[in-house]
Amino acid sequence: MKYDLNHILNFTCCFILPNDFKKMNSIFVPKKRMLNELKLVEAIFYYSTEGIIVCKNYSEIVMANPRALQLFGYSAEEMIGLEIDTLVPYEKREEHKQLREKYSHHPHARPMGKNMELFGCRKDGTKFPIEVGLSPFEINGSKYVICFIIDVTERRQAQEKLKEYAELLKRKNEEILYLNHVLESKVKERTRELARVIYELSQSKNELSQALEKEKALNEIKSRFVSTASHEFRTPLSTILSSASLIQRYTKTEEQDKRERHIQKIKNAVTHLTEMLNDFLSLDKLEEGIIRYKPEVINLSDTIKQIIEEINPILKKGQHIIYKHLSNHQECIVDTQILKNILFNLISNASKYSDEDMPIIVESKIENNVVHISVTDKGYGIPEEEQPFLFTRFFRANNVSNIQGTGLGLNIVKKYLELMNGQISFTSKLNEGSTFVIQIPFHKNQQQEN
Ligand SMILES: Nc1ncnc2c1ncn2[C@@H]1O[C@H](COP(=O)(O)OP(=O)(O)OP(=O)(O)O)[C@@H](O)[C@H]1O
Ligand SMILES: [Mg+2]
Repeated sequence: MKYDLNHILNFTCCFILPNDFKKMNSIFVPKKRMLNELKLVEAIFYYSTEGIIVCKNYSEIVMANPRALQLFGYSAEEMIGLEIDTLVPYEKREEHKQLREKYSHHPHARPMGKNMELFGCRKDGTKFPIEVGLSPFEINGSKYVICFIIDVTERRQAQEKLKEYAELLKRKNEEILYLNHVLESKVKERTRELARVIYELSQSKNELSQALEKEKALNEIKSRFVSTASHEFRTPLSTILSSASLIQRYTKTEEQDKRERHIQKIKNAVTHLTEMLNDFLSLDKLEEGIIRYKPEVINLSDTIKQIIEEINPILKKGQHIIYKHLSNHQECIVDTQILKNILFNLISNASKYSDEDMPIIVESKIENNVVHISVTDKGYGIPEEEQPFLFTRFFRANNVSNIQGTGLGLNIVKKYLELMNGQISFTSKLNEGSTFVIQIPFHKNQQQEN
């Protein structure tokens, strides 16, 4: 059945227009204008994208627009006269009937099935999601309700998709949070590892630079040794060479005196060379910690006297050592060999850096388990500005550059004293002389301990 304009007109005139308006129209509005308005209502009904169904007594379908017919898959002839419940899925029909009953007692305009998912049922039994708005009205004592139906399949699908996406997003978010957590702990772990590696690297860098420093120092000593040795060894070696050549010439028996004089010169030169080599060797040994402190109980003044006796032959002509022991105590505990090396260096310096005939004063004492020994000369002294460098290896003051020496003696003495927890100090005045003082502590039972 197709609704023609008259049908709609009759029906709409009865209920769509408000009563007052109808009255007004019947009285004041010209018929042509009214026809136009009704055509408009007809167009709304026909072309509405919402399905529109009118039910009498809340149940019998009396009118349905093309969209409603299309939605539910009925022809107009089939749908008109149907119970509205037919359009509800089978399983919900009973419930719908009851709700409809309830609604008929308090009819009012409202959306249907608030907070519920509503479904329509097509002629072929298939279901589809819908939204329904209800508006009740009365005509000539008959009750009607107009239903506006929207197919929300696409919206529901979109909502479903949205839900799925939200779910997916939530899951991904959780995954990201977890990965983040894993990543953070990995980063922390790696940072810790990195810090450890950096620490180890800096440690090995330190060790390496220390080793390099040592190597550098060693190399410097070696090259210094080569240049010092080549310079210092030249004089005694040329002495040896010239004396040997002369000895070769003195072939006659009566020339024995001359031969012996040159043999002595050779011996002295060899001794000098040996001393120099010993200096280098003891420095090496000291640095490598090979030399050990072997203290023994000694009589201090006796030991010093013995050392002086050994050193006397190397003094310059007319030089003499004046020795005094200034305390009552005589016994102490020291390493005799090291003490001998120290005094040899100090007394040989006192002799080397003062003129012939000058005295060298050696004094000793024992106080509070400390051995004090001083060596004083009346020699060339040390320029004040050079005094701070005196114990530096290879250092030699300017005022004695014409006298042979390697600049190692005092450095060795200082190292020996460090080995014994001792100390060395000095006072010196240019062209007046110098005094070197050493202090060596000792204590009872030291001998056994070492
Ligand atoms: N008693 C002293 N009087 C003046 N100068 C001294 C005295 N003792 C040391 N010096 C200065 O200190 C420098 C270093 O002395 P050190 O004993 O270390 O080396 P050296 O005497 O030059 O050589 P060697 O290694 O043969 O002893 C000397 O070259 C000298 O300039
Ligand atoms: Mg010296």
